[in-house]
Amino acid sequence: MLDLSSCAAVITGATGNLGAAVLRAYLTRGTHVAAAVRDAAKSEALRSSLSDVAGSSDDPRLLVIEADPADASAMEALVEQVLRAWGRVDILNNLAGIFKGGPSLDTRLVRELWESNVLTAVTASAACLRPMRARGYGRIVNVSAIGAQKGGRNNAAYAMSKSALVRWTESCAAEVKGEGITVNAVLPTTIDHPVNRAQMPKADPKLWPSPDEVANVILFLSSRESSGVNGAAIPIVART
Ligand SMILES: NC(=O)c1ccc[n+]([C@@H]2O[C@H](COP(=O)([O-])OP(=O)(O)OC[C@H]3O[C@@H](n4cnc5c(N)ncnc54)[C@H](OP(=O)(O)O)[C@@H]3O)[C@@H](O)[C@H]2O)c1
Repeated sequence: MLDLSSCAAVITGATGNLGAAVLRAYLTRGTHVAAAVRDAAKSEALRSSLSDVAGSSDDPRLLVIEADPADASAMEALVEQVLRAWGRVDILNNLAGIFKGGPSLDTRLVRELWESNVLTAVTASAACLRPMRARGYGRIVNVSAIGAQKGGRNNAAYAMSKSALVRWTESCAAEVKGEGITVNAVLPTTIDHPVNRAQMPKADPKLWPSPDEVANVILFLSSRESSGVNGAAIPIVART
Protein backbone atom coordinates (compact mmCIF):
# COMPACT_ATOMS: atom_id res chain seq x y z
CA MET A 1 0.00 0.00 0.00
CA LEU A 2 1.20 3.54 -0.78
CA ASP A 3 2.42 5.38 2.29
CA LEU A 4 0.50 8.66 2.40
CA SER A 5 0.35 8.79 6.19
CA SER A 6 2.76 11.69 6.62
CA CYS A 7 1.17 13.80 3.86
CA ALA A 8 -1.06 16.85 4.00
CA ALA A 9 -3.60 17.09 1.19
CA VAL A 10 -5.99 19.80 -0.01
CA ILE A 11 -9.09 18.66 -1.91
CA THR A 12 -11.72 20.59 -3.83
CA GLY A 13 -15.03 18.97 -4.79
CA ALA A 14 -14.97 16.96 -1.56
CA THR A 15 -18.76 17.17 -1.20
CA GLY A 16 -19.28 15.33 -4.48
CA ASN A 17 -19.68 11.65 -5.27
CA LEU A 18 -16.05 11.17 -6.27
CA GLY A 19 -14.89 13.46 -3.46
CA ALA A 20 -16.43 11.17 -0.85
CA ALA A 21 -14.42 8.20 -2.14
CA VAL A 22 -11.17 10.16 -2.41
CA LEU A 23 -11.53 11.68 1.06
CA ARG A 24 -12.28 8.29 2.59
CA ALA A 25 -9.31 6.70 0.79
CA TYR A 26 -6.96 9.34 2.20
CA LEU A 27 -8.32 9.19 5.74
CA THR A 28 -8.07 5.40 5.90
CA ARG A 29 -4.38 5.77 4.97
CA GLY A 30 -3.76 8.32 7.69
CA THR A 31 -3.37 11.33 5.39
CA HIS A 32 -4.22 14.77 6.79
CA VAL A 33 -6.86 16.28 4.52
CA ALA A 34 -8.25 19.80 4.19
CA ALA A 35 -11.48 19.96 2.20
CA ALA A 36 -12.37 23.28 0.56
CA VAL A 37 -16.16 23.42 0.77
CA ARG A 38 -18.00 26.39 -0.72
CA ASP A 39 -21.34 25.58 0.91
CA ALA A 40 -21.13 25.83 4.71
CA ALA A 41 -24.30 23.77 5.12
CA LYS A 42 -22.53 20.82 3.51
CA SER A 43 -19.56 20.92 5.92
CA GLU A 44 -21.34 19.18 8.79
CA ALA A 45 -22.88 16.59 6.49
CA LEU A 46 -19.45 15.86 5.08
CA ARG A 47 -17.95 15.45 8.53
CA SER A 48 -20.68 13.16 9.78
CA SER A 49 -20.48 11.01 6.62
CA LEU A 50 -16.84 10.39 7.53
CA SER A 51 -17.32 9.85 11.26
CA ASP A 52 -16.23 6.20 11.00
CA VAL A 53 -12.83 7.15 9.56
CA ALA A 54 -12.29 10.71 10.83
CA GLY A 55 -13.67 10.29 14.32
CA SER A 56 -14.83 13.35 16.24
CA SER A 57 -15.32 16.81 14.78
CA ASP A 58 -11.97 17.85 16.25
CA ASP A 59 -10.06 14.97 14.63
CA PRO A 60 -6.77 16.67 13.72
CA ARG A 61 -6.54 14.77 10.41
CA LEU A 62 -9.57 16.44 8.81
CA LEU A 63 -10.14 20.14 8.24
CA VAL A 64 -13.35 21.14 6.50
CA ILE A 65 -12.85 24.77 5.53
CA GLU A 66 -15.37 27.09 3.95
CA ALA A 67 -13.64 28.29 0.78
CA ASP A 68 -14.73 28.62 -2.83
CA PRO A 69 -11.94 27.04 -4.91
CA ALA A 70 -12.33 29.79 -7.53
CA ASP A 71 -11.79 32.54 -4.94
CA ALA A 72 -8.07 33.34 -4.75
CA SER A 73 -8.12 35.03 -1.36
CA ALA A 74 -10.27 32.27 0.18
CA MET A 75 -7.85 29.63 -1.10
CA GLU A 76 -4.83 31.63 0.14
CA ALA A 77 -6.48 31.77 3.58
CA LEU A 78 -7.18 28.02 3.46
CA VAL A 79 -3.55 27.30 2.63
CA GLU A 80 -2.41 29.53 5.51
CA GLN A 81 -4.69 27.58 7.86
CA VAL A 82 -3.28 24.27 6.59
CA LEU A 83 0.29 25.51 7.02
CA ARG A 84 -0.48 26.63 10.59
CA ALA A 85 -2.05 23.25 11.37
CA TRP A 86 0.34 20.85 9.60
CA GLY A 87 3.25 22.95 8.33
CA ARG A 88 3.03 21.65 4.76
CA VAL A 89 0.93 21.09 1.66
CA ASP A 90 2.07 17.95 -0.15
CA ILE A 91 -0.96 17.22 -2.31
CA LEU A 92 -3.71 19.10 -4.13
CA ASN A 93 -6.56 17.19 -5.79
CA ASN A 94 -8.77 19.36 -7.99
CA LEU A 95 -12.06 17.49 -8.10
CA ALA A 96 -14.47 20.43 -8.28
CA GLY A 97 -16.41 20.46 -11.51
CA ILE A 98 -19.75 20.03 -13.22
CA PHE A 99 -21.26 18.46 -16.30
CA LYS A 100 -23.87 20.35 -18.31
CA GLY A 101 -24.87 19.87 -21.92
CA GLY A 102 -26.11 22.52 -24.33
CA PRO A 103 -25.55 24.09 -27.75
CA SER A 104 -22.06 25.21 -28.67
CA LEU A 105 -23.26 28.83 -29.14
CA ASP A 106 -24.51 29.13 -25.54
CA THR A 107 -21.96 31.62 -24.23
CA ARG A 108 -23.41 31.58 -20.72
CA LEU A 109 -22.89 27.82 -20.51
CA VAL A 110 -19.37 28.07 -21.91
CA ARG A 111 -18.50 30.66 -19.24
CA GLU A 112 -20.13 28.64 -16.45
CA LEU A 113 -18.23 25.47 -17.28
CA TRP A 114 -14.99 27.37 -17.77
CA GLU A 115 -15.37 28.86 -14.31
CA SER A 116 -16.39 25.58 -12.64
CA ASN A 117 -14.03 23.19 -14.41
CA VAL A 118 -10.96 25.32 -15.16
CA LEU A 119 -10.75 28.36 -12.92
CA THR A 120 -11.39 26.33 -9.74
CA ALA A 121 -8.34 24.17 -10.52
CA VAL A 122 -6.09 27.04 -11.59
CA THR A 123 -6.95 29.16 -8.55
CA ALA A 124 -6.54 26.33 -6.03
CA SER A 125 -3.27 25.32 -7.68
CA ALA A 126 -1.89 28.86 -7.52
CA ALA A 127 -2.51 28.94 -3.77
CA CYS A 128 -1.01 25.48 -3.12
CA LEU A 129 1.98 25.82 -5.43
CA ARG A 130 3.46 28.62 -3.33
CA PRO A 131 4.25 26.41 -0.29
CA MET A 132 4.99 23.41 -2.55
CA ARG A 133 7.65 25.40 -4.41
CA ALA A 134 9.09 26.70 -1.15
CA ARG A 135 9.54 23.11 0.09
CA GLY A 136 10.49 21.60 -3.28
CA TYR A 137 7.79 18.95 -3.17
CA GLY A 138 4.23 18.63 -4.41
CA ARG A 139 1.67 16.51 -6.22
CA ILE A 140 -1.25 18.10 -8.08
CA VAL A 141 -3.92 15.88 -9.63
CA ASN A 142 -6.67 17.39 -11.76
CA VAL A 143 -9.87 15.54 -12.61
CA SER A 144 -10.65 16.10 -16.28
CA ALA A 145 -12.88 13.64 -18.15
CA ILE A 146 -12.75 11.28 -21.11
CA GLY A 147 -15.07 13.82 -22.77
CA ALA A 148 -12.03 16.11 -23.04
CA GLN A 149 -10.80 14.06 -25.98
CA LYS A 150 -13.48 14.93 -28.50
CA GLY A 151 -16.29 17.42 -28.93
CA GLY A 152 -19.79 16.27 -29.75
CA ARG A 153 -23.34 17.48 -30.18
CA ASN A 154 -24.40 19.62 -27.18
CA ASN A 155 -21.08 18.94 -25.52
CA ALA A 156 -18.92 21.92 -26.52
CA ALA A 157 -18.78 23.70 -23.17
CA TYR A 158 -17.92 20.55 -21.22
CA ALA A 159 -15.43 19.17 -23.76
CA MET A 160 -13.74 22.57 -24.08
CA SER A 161 -13.40 23.06 -20.34
CA LYS A 162 -12.11 19.57 -19.61
CA SER A 163 -9.76 19.72 -22.60
CA ALA A 164 -8.47 23.10 -21.41
CA LEU A 165 -7.78 21.53 -18.01
CA VAL A 166 -5.57 18.92 -19.69
CA ARG A 167 -3.66 21.58 -21.64
CA TRP A 168 -3.27 23.58 -18.43
CA THR A 169 -1.98 20.44 -16.67
CA GLU A 170 0.66 19.92 -19.35
CA SER A 171 1.74 23.55 -19.25
CA CYS A 172 1.93 23.79 -15.48
CA ALA A 173 3.81 20.47 -15.36
CA ALA A 174 6.40 21.89 -17.76
CA GLU A 175 6.76 25.03 -15.64
CA VAL A 176 7.41 23.14 -12.37
CA LYS A 177 9.68 20.51 -13.94
CA GLY A 178 12.79 19.98 -11.82
CA GLU A 179 11.21 21.43 -8.66
CA GLY A 180 10.09 18.13 -7.09
CA ILE A 181 6.50 18.82 -8.11
CA THR A 182 4.29 16.90 -10.53
CA VAL A 183 1.03 17.98 -12.15
CA ASN A 184 -1.14 15.30 -13.75
CA ALA A 185 -4.72 14.74 -14.83
CA VAL A 186 -7.08 11.79 -14.84
CA LEU A 187 -9.79 11.37 -17.47
CA PRO A 188 -12.57 9.16 -16.13
CA THR A 189 -15.45 8.01 -18.26
CA THR A 190 -18.88 7.97 -16.55
CA ILE A 191 -18.31 7.00 -12.92
CA ASP A 192 -20.58 4.43 -11.29
CA HIS A 193 -22.36 6.42 -8.61
CA PRO A 194 -26.03 6.80 -7.66
CA VAL A 195 -26.59 10.06 -9.55
CA ASN A 196 -25.31 8.61 -12.83
CA ARG A 197 -27.30 5.40 -12.31
CA ALA A 198 -30.46 7.45 -11.79
CA GLN A 199 -29.79 9.64 -14.83
CA MET A 200 -28.94 6.73 -17.15
CA PRO A 201 -31.24 3.88 -16.07
CA LYS A 202 -30.74 1.93 -19.31
CA ALA A 203 -26.94 1.92 -19.15
CA ASP A 204 -24.96 -0.95 -17.65
CA PRO A 205 -23.09 0.55 -14.66
CA LYS A 206 -20.79 -2.48 -14.52
CA LEU A 207 -19.03 -0.96 -17.53
CA TRP A 208 -18.18 2.20 -15.54
CA PRO A 209 -15.25 2.62 -13.18
CA SER A 210 -16.21 2.75 -9.53
CA PRO A 211 -15.39 5.85 -7.47
CA ASP A 212 -12.81 3.74 -5.60
CA GLU A 213 -11.09 2.80 -8.86
CA VAL A 214 -10.82 6.46 -9.82
CA ALA A 215 -9.67 7.34 -6.30
CA ASN A 216 -6.91 4.71 -6.48
CA VAL A 217 -5.41 6.32 -9.60
CA ILE A 218 -5.65 9.76 -8.00
CA LEU A 219 -3.92 8.49 -4.86
CA PHE A 220 -1.13 6.90 -6.87
CA LEU A 221 -0.51 10.18 -8.73
CA SER A 222 -0.55 11.92 -5.33
CA SER A 223 2.10 9.63 -3.90
CA ARG A 224 5.87 9.99 -3.74
CA GLU A 225 6.07 6.80 -5.82
CA SER A 226 4.58 8.54 -8.88
CA SER A 227 7.60 10.86 -9.24
CA GLY A 228 8.26 9.71 -12.82
CA VAL A 229 4.86 10.82 -14.09
CA ASN A 230 4.45 14.50 -14.93
CA GLY A 231 2.11 16.25 -17.35
CA ALA A 232 0.19 13.04 -18.03
CA ALA A 233 -3.52 12.70 -18.82
CA ILE A 234 -4.55 9.20 -17.80
CA PRO A 235 -7.84 7.77 -19.11
CA ILE A 236 -9.88 5.70 -16.66
CA VAL A 237 -12.29 4.03 -18.99
CA ALA A 238 -13.79 0.90 -17.51
CA ARG A 239 -14.17 -1.41 -14.57
CA THR A 240 -11.92 -4.42 -15.03
N1 LIG B 1 -19.43 11.78 -12.46
C1 LIG B 1 -18.84 11.37 -13.56
O1 LIG B 1 -19.29 10.43 -14.23
C2 LIG B 1 -17.58 12.05 -14.01
C3 LIG B 1 -16.92 11.58 -15.15
C4 LIG B 1 -15.74 12.23 -15.54
C5 LIG B 1 -15.25 13.29 -14.82
N2 LIG B 1 -15.92 13.72 -13.73
C6 LIG B 1 -15.39 14.85 -12.98
O2 LIG B 1 -15.07 14.41 -11.67
C7 LIG B 1 -15.23 15.49 -10.76
C8 LIG B 1 -16.12 15.05 -9.61
O3 LIG B 1 -17.34 14.58 -10.16
P1 LIG B 1 -18.53 14.05 -9.23
O4 LIG B 1 -19.20 12.96 -9.96
O5 LIG B 1 -18.04 13.83 -7.86
O6 LIG B 1 -19.48 15.33 -9.27
P2 LIG B 1 -20.53 15.83 -8.17
O7 LIG B 1 -20.98 14.70 -7.33
O8 LIG B 1 -21.54 16.64 -8.91
O9 LIG B 1 -19.63 16.81 -7.28
C9 LIG B 1 -19.09 17.97 -7.83
C10 LIG B 1 -18.23 18.65 -6.79
O10 LIG B 1 -17.64 19.81 -7.38
C11 LIG B 1 -18.04 20.96 -6.65
N3 LIG B 1 -18.25 22.07 -7.58
C12 LIG B 1 -18.99 22.05 -8.70
N4 LIG B 1 -18.94 23.26 -9.29
C13 LIG B 1 -18.17 24.05 -8.51
C14 LIG B 1 -17.75 25.41 -8.58
N5 LIG B 1 -18.12 26.23 -9.58
N6 LIG B 1 -16.99 25.89 -7.60
C15 LIG B 1 -16.61 25.10 -6.58
N7 LIG B 1 -16.96 23.80 -6.44
C16 LIG B 1 -17.74 23.29 -7.42
C17 LIG B 1 -19.32 20.57 -5.93
O11 LIG B 1 -19.47 21.42 -4.80
P3 LIG B 1 -20.91 21.74 -4.15
O12 LIG B 1 -21.23 20.55 -3.28
O13 LIG B 1 -20.70 22.98 -3.40
O14 LIG B 1 -21.86 21.86 -5.30
C18 LIG B 1 -19.03 19.12 -5.57
O15 LIG B 1 -18.20 19.04 -4.44
C19 LIG B 1 -15.80 16.66 -11.57
O16 LIG B 1 -14.76 17.51 -11.94
C20 LIG B 1 -16.38 15.98 -12.78
O17 LIG B 1 -16.44 16.81 -13.91
C21 LIG B 1 -17.07 13.12 -13.29
